Amino acid sequence: MSQKILVLGANGTVGKHLVAELLARGEQVKAASRNATPMEGAEAVAFDFTTATGAIEPLLDGVDRLFLMLPTGYVNSYELLAPVAQAAIDRGIKVVFQSVLGVDADDSIPYRQVELMLINSGVASVVLRPNWFMDNFVNFWLPGIQHDVIAVPAAEGQSSFIDARDIAASATAALTSSAFDNQQFNLTGPQAMGYADAAELIGEAIGRSLAYQPLSDDDFIAMLTQAGVPADYAGFLASIFAPVRMGWTAAVSDAVEQLTGNAPRTLEAWIAEHQAVLASQG
Ligand SMILES: NC(=O)c1ccc[n+]([C@@H]2O[C@H](COP(=O)([O-])OP(=O)(O)OC[C@H]3O[C@@H](n4cnc5c(N)ncnc54)[C@H](OP(=O)(O)O)[C@@H]3O)[C@@H](O)[C@H]2O)c1
Repeated sequence: MSQKILVLGANGTVGKHLVAELLARGEQVKAASRNATPMEGAEAVAFDFTTATGAIEPLLDGVDRLFLMLPTGYVNSYELLAPVAQAAIDRGIKVVFQSVLGVDADDSIPYRQVELMLINSGVASVVLRPNWFMDNFVNFWLPGIQHDVIAVPAAEGQSSFIDARDIAASATAALTSSAFDNQQFNLTGPQAMGYADAAELIGEAIGRSLAYQPLSDDDFIAMLTQAGVPADYAGFLASIFAPVRMGWTAAVSDAVEQLTGNAPRTLEAWIAEHQAVLASQG
């Protein structure tokens, strides 16, 4: 009989869709968040990466698969992820790891080190490397959109933005089938576009004229820290726009279709579904 799936970040951008999909497939889910936020149909459990020592072990009881991810806002990714990955490896638990597009370019990148730890473990694993989320336009860039501007240090770089639901659907496939074990997938949306294109599409949908303002790293960091983002995380966010400027996030893959059988959602469709929040004035 199959055991439970432990989903970290269960109430987050990807996790909330993943938990719903797994439950719809009849899986038993342990849904982890810091305060064990109730999620209908799942067993809510408390887990905090920053106080992880000793805390992950009891959560792994009765679990045969783990969705491993790190919530937004942490720069010490290896330090936080590695103990959890190791605890799963030690128990022979299959891990589906939500990594980040492009980290396989350099084995010294902390996320890549976690990938390699899993790949070399001898335990089944699937690495999912999503590109920039479409959902960032409401989760992070909405205050700017409310002032009719998207201001990021992307220059004219393009990204094949992906809908969080397509990441969740890909993770569902990886968790519920062994067909993808020991493989790595670069998850992208169907089309690459720049922030000026995205601003135009969002502007058209909400009936306002939105500008794209390409920022320098320093101006971006200053904007974020003034908005309350800690300086180290602001610096980290600025650094991950360098691959965008280099054109590396413009690649389009067929991984979502390979994993789920469905083509990934378009930015136009995502915007139409999020029109009300994008048009909100805060
Ligand atoms: N955004 C992007 O464009 C992008 C692109 C590629 C890859 N990624 C990867 O995706 C990750 C974020 O995924 P996501 O957006 O689905 O996650 P998320 O929504 O940022 O976080 C998921 C949940 O984690 C919980 N959480 C926060 N701090 C925690 C802690 N210390 N310990 C345990 N749980 C904690 C939060 O719930 P509670 O507050 O209830 O605990 C939150 O709802 C990034 O860190 C990055 O690695 C993101």
